[in-house]
Amino acid sequence: MKRSFSLAILAAILLLAGLATQPAVADEQKAVLITGASTGIGRNMAERLAKEGYFVYAGARKDKDLAELDAIENIKAVRLDVTSQEDVDAAVALVRKEGLGLWGLVNNAGVATSGTVAETEDSDLDFVLNVNVNGVVRVTRAFIPLIVESKGRIVTTGSIAGILSRAGGSAYSMSKHAMEAFVDSLAGEMAPAGVQVSLIEPGSYKSRIRRTTAARIAANIEAAGGEVTDEMQERMTQSAEREVTLNEPDAVSDAAMHALFAETPRRRYMVVPDQFEAEITIRKAIEELVQLNGGHAFSYERDQLVEMLDQALASD
Ligand SMILES: NC(=O)c1ccc[n+]([C@@H]2O[C@H](COP(=O)([O-])OP(=O)(O)OC[C@H]3O[C@@H](n4cnc5c(N)ncnc54)[C@H](OP(=O)(O)O)[C@@H]3O)[C@@H](O)[C@H]2O)c1
Repeated sequence: MKRSFSLAILAAILLLAGLATQPAVADEQKAVLITGASTGIGRNMAERLAKEGYFVYAGARKDKDLAELDAIENIKAVRLDVTSQEDVDAAVALVRKEGLGLWGLVNNAGVATSGTVAETEDSDLDFVLNVNVNGVVRVTRAFIPLIVESKGRIVTTGSIAGILSRAGGSAYSMSKHAMEAFVDSLAGEMAPAGVQVSLIEPGSYKSRIRRTTAARIAANIEAAGGEVTDEMQERMTQSAEREVTLNEPDAVSDAAMHALFAETPRRRYMVVPDQFEAEITIRKAIEELVQLNGGHAFSYERDQLVEMLDQALASD
């Protein structure tokens, strides 16, 4: 009797010792792939996750960025241009080969442009949509099997431009409006598999997007034999100067952490640096609601709308 009791204790000790010495991989060190991790928001997210002990596959395109990311503890750089199916397939193969599974996918890579509808060239529109829309779909489709296996998370960086649309900003806003639809459809499709889907909608944060966009537009004009006017140059300089004064996107990474690891992630995270950006975005959403309600036979009265709003607030 005494002997079997001691054996049971010994077995328990061995079991616990065995558990304690197992590498903290699949359960504790969840792996997350982030696209567009070379600079700005993606870089901030990659560094934050790595610092908190998660394993990050950091997507980048340039050798210099890949080397820099690889040098960070808990980060493995992955050559990943989201417009290249070959790169995407190779990234999936690499993640499979590493054998850690994949808990999270963060679709973050993005580009911008500027120009009126009348002036925007097809090539410019295609450039933005191919990265911001097709790229997100291409990458997500490829990683869905891995994410389903882990019952994990898919997070996408949208923008408040997914709600707002300013004159001269249609191409970028269209691409971010597309993400609003993408996440809602995807969330419905993934729910039965236990995968949760979120959209982060940042306002203005420090990154390189404005400077990169200005440089690309200027290069395109010059390549087409045009001239970058003083007025255009002045606008670009102002935008670049403003960009470096913006807040670091730490709050955007906070939202990503919540979307990736909280038990009940939100569908949407609007993350803005000030009341002004919150107000213009929410007012625009309300304005759209009012436009949707007016001018037809099935409009709701004010009190009914308020009741609907209360119901939505109660279920948020
Ligand atoms: N910063 C803001 O104020 C703000 C606000 C709202 C939303 N966002 C969104 O945040 C996301 C990140 O942008 P950011 O502001 O951090 O700008 P950023 O500093 O310019 O970073 C953009 C990232 O996307 C990558 N990228 C561009 N084209 C790519 C492609 N074809 N394949 C793979 N990666 C590609 C860039 O890589 P390379 O270095 O190789 O070009 C870079 O890593 C974007 O989706 C953007 O729309 C930003």
